Amino acid sequence: MSAIGLNGHSNCPTALTNSRLSGRKRTWSSGAALVGAAQAVEHYEIARYGTLKAWALELGLDDAASLLETTLKEEEDTDHQLSELAVKLINQKAEAAE
Ligand SMILES: [Fe+2]
Repeated sequence: MSAIGLNGHSNCPTALTNSRLSGRKRTWSSGAALVGAAQAVEHYEIARYGTLKAWALELGLDDAASLLETTLKEEEDTDHQLSELAVKLINQKAEAAE
């Protein structure tokens, strides 16, 4: 998570999901829910970094735009890794446990 992300805020999807799962047995389904919540955060960050990068480019702040592009790619990579984790493991395990 980034400094401008949702982490630590009460409306953070991962914090809310984790809170709702608190005290319950951890299952593959709860893992799937947590991955989905983490992806919601990544999607928020991707949208924000994309906007900030566009604004930086519009203002001629090329160095800032480059840094924002690097961060944007990191967020996209994390999102893709979470998708792979869900598709290749967690979702299948959750379905099999039903
Ligand atoms: Fe992130």
